[in-house]
Amino acid sequence: MAHPDRFLLAGVMGWPVMHSRSPMLHNYWFKQHGLAGNYVPLAIRPEGLAAALGALHPLGFAGCNLTIPHKQQAMKIVDEVDTLARSIGAISCVVVRADGSLSGTNNDCYGFIHNIRQEQPGWRADAGPIAVIGAGGGSRAVCYGLAREGAKEIRLLNRTFARAKGIADEFGKPINALPWEQRHEALEGAAMVVNTTSCGMVGQPALDITLDKLPQGALAADIIYIPLETPFLAAARKRGNRTTNGLGMLLNQGRPAWKAWFGIEPEVTAELRAMVERTI
Ligand SMILES: NC(=O)c1ccc[n+]([C@@H]2O[C@H](COP(=O)([O-])OP(=O)(O)OC[C@H]3O[C@@H](n4cnc5c(N)ncnc54)[C@H](OP(=O)(O)O)[C@@H]3O)[C@@H](O)[C@H]2O)c1
Repeated sequence: MAHPDRFLLAGVMGWPVMHSRSPMLHNYWFKQHGLAGNYVPLAIRPEGLAAALGALHPLGFAGCNLTIPHKQQAMKIVDEVDTLARSIGAISCVVVRADGSLSGTNNDCYGFIHNIRQEQPGWRADAGPIAVIGAGGGSRAVCYGLAREGAKEIRLLNRTFARAKGIADEFGKPINALPWEQRHEALEGAAMVVNTTSCGMVGQPALDITLDKLPQGALAADIIYIPLETPFLAAARKRGNRTTNGLGMLLNQGRPAWKAWFGIEPEVTAELRAMVERTI
C-alpha cells in the first residue's frame, strides 16, 4: 500500500537507460495520484547489476524495472522468479518484499495484450492464425501472451531459425516455427501479424517483408515505439490494415508494476499517451 508519510521510490535499470520513457510514465502517475515519490533512470553497467539490485532495499526502493541488457541476467540474482517470468525467460520487473528479498516477474506480456485490447476493442487471439516475426526476448513475451489468450495458430518466423524453433519446442502448441524465407507467404489468411524484431527501430533497417498476402482485415502490430510508425506499420496502414504500435505496451506494463510496488492500479489515459508521444 502507498504510505502518505513515506517518499516512494522506483526506477529503471538499463545500460544505456537515458532513452527510456519509463520515468515520464511513472512520474506522471505519482503526480496524478498526489503521491510524494520519484521514478529514476538508473544507468547500471552489466557488471554492477547484482550490487545495484542489492541496494534497492537499503535505499528504500519499492522495486525497479529492467531493460536491455539486464532482463536475463537478473534472473540469476533475485531471490525468486515467478512462473510467468520463468516461462518467458526474462524479468522485466523486480519487487522488494517486506523482508528485503527480491522477487522477479515479467509484465511485458501483460503490456502487449492489454495494449491490443485497449486499442482494438473486440480483438480476439483466436480470430485466426497469427504471424509473429522475430524470436528475441520481446517475441517470447508476445508469443506467451498470445498463446495464453487462446491463439489457435502462431506462425513464428525468425532470421535465425534455431531461435524460433527453440521457442516452439519450449512453448509447444500453438506455436509453429517456419523458415525465414517463408515470411511473405506466412501472412496468407492471417488475422494478425506482429513485428517483434528490432527492424524498423530508429537507426535500424526496415523489416524486410512483403505484405501482399496479408488479408485486408488483418491487424498489424509492432512492439517498437521509436519511431511511433515503423516502415512496416506505415506499409500496412497504406494498404488499409489496422495498426497498433508498441507505445501502449510500454505504458500498460507499468500498471501491474505499480500494483506490486505501491498497491495502486493506475490508468493509461489518453493524456498520458499523448504526453509521451510528444517526446518521440
Ligand atoms: N514496447 C515495449 O514495451 C517493448 C518491450 C520489449 C522490446 N521492445 C522492442 O522490441 C524490439 C526487440 O527487442 P528484444 O528485446 O526482443 O531484442 P532481442 O532479444 O535482441 O531480439 C531481436 C530480434 O530482432 C531480430 N533481428 C535483428 N536484426 C534483424 C535483421 N536485420 N533482420 C531480421 N531480423 C532481425 C533478431 O533476429 P536473430 O535472432 O536472427 O538475431 C531477433 O529476433 C526492440 O526494438 C525493443 O525496443 C519493445
